[in-house]
Amino acid sequence: MAEAGPVLLVGCGKMGGAMLAGWLEAGRKVAVVEPKAPVPRTPGLVAAVAVPEDLPGGLAPSAVVLAVKPQEAANVVPIYARFARSAVYLSIMAGKTVAGLAGMLGAEARIVRAMPNTPASVRKGVTACFAGEGVTAAQRTLCDELLGTVGKVAWVDRESLIDPVTAVSGGGPAYVFLLAEVLEEAAVSEGIPRDLARLLARETVSGSGALLAASTDDAAQLRKNVTSPGGTTAEALAVLMAEDAWPALMKRAIAAATRRSRELAG
Ligand SMILES: NC(=O)c1ccc[n+]([C@@H]2O[C@H](COP(=O)([O-])OP(=O)(O)OC[C@H]3O[C@@H](n4cnc5c(N)ncnc54)[C@H](OP(=O)(O)O)[C@@H]3O)[C@@H](O)[C@H]2O)c1
Repeated sequence: MAEAGPVLLVGCGKMGGAMLAGWLEAGRKVAVVEPKAPVPRTPGLVAAVAVPEDLPGGLAPSAVVLAVKPQEAANVVPIYARFARSAVYLSIMAGKTVAGLAGMLGAEARIVRAMPNTPASVRKGVTACFAGEGVTAAQRTLCDELLGTVGKVAWVDRESLIDPVTAVSGGGPAYVFLLAEVLEEAAVSEGIPRDLARLLARETVSGSGALLAASTDDAAQLRKNVTSPGGTTAEALAVLMAEDAWPALMKRAIAAATRRSRELAG
């Protein structure tokens, strides 16, 4: 493993908790600051404390993972500036820029900004990262490994791309869940009982995701595979793929979310 010191996780909520489980399973040493619930003591956990004052003296983390809500950042992040010498800061906080974080952590802080998504909770996430100035290759590798425990990891070379990434994969699970919802409603409209409609919609969405994940074909090919010319699926796709329908709608939705991400950035 690339790291020397333990990973310090600040905020063990949904995202932090998912990553923590993966790290401990992978045999990493981790210290956690989480005010709410005590994290169960397990091998690998060097400390689990409610406040940073209770962290072991002399702790020299190799990474400080910032996983609190963005609105907590201003109060929480500066407390961890003292680790700048040993650690890379890996922030998963939505909308918090490298420059904004450097303002809280000091100029010598090495900062990676990452945007994960909620399938991380079942280790099927995808995270895009941007490395700020001075981040070393070893620190990049460490961040790659830490995020890799909950899914796939990709890097962007311009921080501005984190806004459309937020729109596409950060929010993306919501669009897929919406698909399950509207498919269920459409099924009910055709007379299918609610319970069966829900089962059909849910399994179709999750099963198609599993098929996409398992296949070497791209999504367009998998779609063509279930579309016979002149058949029922072709009839539905003609509606969904009309000029003003899904392709245009999705572009508008992603553009709106990207704009909002830029507005919220700080
Ligand atoms: N969930 C997503 O889809 C998603 C996607 C991409 C990025 N993110 C980012 O991931 C971060 C975490 O999101 P989440 O969904 O995991 O939120 P969450 O479940 O609310 O987790 C945040 C955790 O931080 C804890 N906390 C609050 N103050 C703290 C402090 N002073 N020191 C240490 N821990 C503290 C909270 O405890 P309390 O509950 O007691 O306040 C909570 O357990 C956010 O910045 C979000 O932008 C989330």
